[in-house]
Amino acid sequence: MMTKAFVTGWPVSHSKSPLLHGYWIKEHEIDGSYEPVAVEPESFKTFINELQNSKFVGGNVTMPHKEAAFEYTEKTGSAANKLGAVNTLWFENGKLNGDNTDAYGFSANLDDYHSEWRDMKQALVLGAGGASRAVIYSLIEAGFDQVHIVNRTVERAQSLVERFGDKTSAHSFNDAKFLMTQTNLLVNTTSIGMDGSQSSALPNLEGLPDHALVTDIVYTPLQTPLLEAAAHRGLRTIDGLGMLLHQAVPGFEKWFGVRPKVTGALRNYILEQS
Ligand code: ATR
Repeated sequence: MMTKAFVTGWPVSHSKSPLLHGYWIKEHEIDGSYEPVAVEPESFKTFINELQNSKFVGGNVTMPHKEAAFEYTEKTGSAANKLGAVNTLWFENGKLNGDNTDAYGFSANLDDYHSEWRDMKQALVLGAGGASRAVIYSLIEAGFDQVHIVNRTVERAQSLVERFGDKTSAHSFNDAKFLMTQTNLLVNTTSIGMDGSQSSALPNLEGLPDHALVTDIVYTPLQTPLLEAAAHRGLRTIDGLGMLLHQAVPGFEKWFGVRPKVTGALRNYILEQS
């Protein structure tokens, strides 16, 4: 029987996940499908309740349903518990299980290019929205002992400090200039620079040490204004596409029974189709 998985969001049409999973389904000659299912927020609970008797073995959850999915999942993994959000669902012994693979995706992407990031210890994270949580969680899991969170709205950064504890600290953009001098890894999790927007809001990178590594979780455009500014300064950079590709690996393995690989060919395929 054909194995079916889904991605649900509202809207969901922009999701690159069907392309990505479709590539692996074909590569591994699996009798399966991965379909986008648009579900309005009001209908999400019903969607989850009906999953048990549906054609699906599991799927991905994207904006704006990740927090609701966490609430409705019967058994959640430790990353999901820390982040309060679920992006991957599957059934195990008849129970709906969920976890969050975004933090895994973030770390695996950095591991691919500069695995020494794990020894960098001091990071600056720009942004305190939903997307920043997975990044902060990854950094703490990797043993970072100082994670400075800089956000336009400092209160949001402060609430992350309450969630993640004393290795994190909250700051406004006014502190960015000084904090850059203490930063080995700089991560942008804000929407600044996405599709060419607002790049004037980016902090100046002058103070970063020459050995610093700079990464952005935004991948549209692939070379964000932050990565361009970092490259211009001669710093090493990693773009955000790999995080998207890697976060998909654990789900695919759960549903289809094969652990797929993130390769240059997959990356080129996704870039060509976008
Ligand atoms: P997500 O859940 O995808 O992270 P979000 O919750 O809307 O999305 O968060 C977007 C992030 O980008 C926030 O950190 C936001 O800062 P505020 O918390 O102050 O809103 C940040 N952001 C967006 N546009 C910005 C801008 N022009 N200047 C500075 N920060 C910006």
